[in-house]
Amino acid sequence: MAEKILELRNLKKYYGKGDSEVRALDDVSLDINEGELLVLVGNSGCGKSTLLNVIAGMDSPDSGEIIFDGTDITKYKDKELTNFRKEKIGFIFQFYNLLPDLTAIENVRMSIAGKDIDHKAEKTLEMVGLGGEKMNQYPSQMSGGEQQRVSIARALVKDTKLILCDEPTGALDDKTGRKILNLLQDLVRKEGQTMVIVTHSSPIAAIADRVVTMRDGKIIKIAQNDNPSDADTIEW
Ligand SMILES: Nc1ncnc2c1ncn2[C@@H]1O[C@H](COP(=O)(O)OP(=O)(O)OP(=O)(O)O)[C@@H](O)[C@H]1O
Ligand SMILES: [Mg+2]
Repeated sequence: MAEKILELRNLKKYYGKGDSEVRALDDVSLDINEGELLVLVGNSGCGKSTLLNVIAGMDSPDSGEIIFDGTDITKYKDKELTNFRKEKIGFIFQFYNLLPDLTAIENVRMSIAGKDIDHKAEKTLEMVGLGGEKMNQYPSQMSGGEQQRVSIARALVKDTKLILCDEPTGALDDKTGRKILNLLQDLVRKEGQTMVIVTHSSPIAAIADRVVTMRDGKIIKIAQNDNPSDADTIEW
């Protein structure tokens, strides 16, 4: 049996009161195993981003537990949570979230500290296919796919056990999206990375080990996929 990296226990997060109450997370429990590629699907507004954000420590649940590597992060104080977010989680956003005034390599370097950060940032950018001249370009000089690769490098360079992706191909055309998906899939299959990918697209779910479907803040289905497809073979 694979080792659990993350245990979510009875997570709740409600917005608003009375008639306007929205149950973004309504008693969500789930385990995520090391080396697993988990895809999270569901209609717009069902709570996917909320779930990813609370796992990443960017938002806190009203109640429930988030046990990461044996520690309940919902008990963390602000500073501990900030450190957790910085050091333990790689996050890839739909719209990249790069700093416009920094070059590719500067954006990647930002997310790490200590010695050797230039070398690490350079190696990671090369890994995602952005070596050489590209490293010194600004986000405005790059295509969407290139910017998303910088944001992947920024998440990877931290060398975290868990990477969370919120619609990582949502802003890209199909062909570029497929390339990004290939890259993410390789990280799991070849490097043993643990990854959660949120998507609207059910074809993308074909590459997952498990597909979790949410509706109205609840998990309504967990499907095990014993034979995940390759990203280059799926139909979009
Ligand atoms: N800060 C907030 N204040 C009030 N309601 C919120 C807030 N954030 C999210 N919600 C509500 O919580 C619900 C879940 O939102 P969430 O962003 O998690 O959905 P999602 O599944 O990621 O949707 P999408 O696929 O459109 O990205 C939605 O009804 C949303 O309107
Ligand atoms: Mg969302």
